[in-house]
Amino acid sequence: MISQQPIISQQAMASHPGPETPPDGAVEKIAIGEPLRLGAIARGESVTTFVHPELAKEEHVLRILTFSLWYGPKQALFDVSLDIPRGKVTALIGPSGCGKSTLLRCVNRLNDLLDTIRIRGDMALNGESIYAPAVDVIELRKRMGMVFQKPNPFPMSIFENVIYPLRIDGIRDRAALNEACEKALRSAALWDEVKDRLHESGLALSGGQQQRLCIARAIAGEPEVLLLDEPCSALDPIATGKIEDLIHELAGEYSVLIVTHNMHQASRTSHYTAFMYLGNVIEFGPTPKLFTDPSVRETNDYITGRFG
Ligand SMILES: Nc1ncnc2c1ncn2[C@@H]1O[C@H](COP(=O)(O)OP(=O)(O)OP(=O)(O)O)[C@@H](O)[C@H]1O
Ligand SMILES: [Mg+2]
Repeated sequence: MISQQPIISQQAMASHPGPETPPDGAVEKIAIGEPLRLGAIARGESVTTFVHPELAKEEHVLRILTFSLWYGPKQALFDVSLDIPRGKVTALIGPSGCGKSTLLRCVNRLNDLLDTIRIRGDMALNGESIYAPAVDVIELRKRMGMVFQKPNPFPMSIFENVIYPLRIDGIRDRAALNEACEKALRSAALWDEVKDRLHESGLALSGGQQQRLCIARAIAGEPEVLLLDEPCSALDPIATGKIEDLIHELAGEYSVLIVTHNMHQASRTSHYTAFMYLGNVIEFGPTPKLFTDPSVRETNDYITGRFG
């Protein structure tokens, strides 16, 4: 069972000051442009995220509210606050082990499945708490689509893979299922390749096709947010290019949060990027700005390959 430290109330969330304001208890405060003390972060001190002003113009689909997580005694996330814009692609970058996948898994509460985990803080999807005690986790997960590093089609036909979220919802109307299948496969740029073999096994597709099938399955239920954890890491450059184009095209209709440690991928696919380091979000801003003119020295050091 997950043990949850005090979770902030709906009321507290409504009046949450947002990531620009340091959360109570933040130990380290960073003046803009001043070097972060990486040693202090390494000692487990929280830092205040530098959020670029462009983010203030965006509507938010997902809010991460002073969220911390411990695996047993080891803290992996430190007072993370991030407002994820609606209809945009947001990339999470940072060195291996900095907590990108942990944060993503917390959004749909996949970490609940581990009994050594303790969390503090909350998240909100379209204004509704994700961690409030009354939340139905199965219903919550239906509101999100998730795609993992390795494609994981179910051992069933392409058609059944895609419409799986609708089956779970009990939809049986054949015309509605056919329509949803075609729409999702078109959105995932896979329709032309599979339209004549919808009843063949999803496992018979190539790796890149399987990953687009998983994206089709993830969007068939029209999720409020799409979570992608390094979706191209098992793919060759051509398949990667197709998925990157697809992710970029999904913006607008979908809000996408993508984990990558490939900075080229982040710059090709995303509108905004958050740089994480040792469980803290260091800087969050428009992708072109973060990669060409970051405001925090450690972001610059990371993107120019000085560490990580
Ligand atoms: N199930 C787990 N039990 C204990 N510790 C874990 C577990 N999963 C992750 N961690 C630890 O939490 C920290 C963050 O890991 P996480 O997998 O989120 O990093 P990441 O940024 O996704 O890294 P990568 O780029 O290598 O995928 C690491 O120190 C990792 O060892
Ligand atoms: Mg990871």
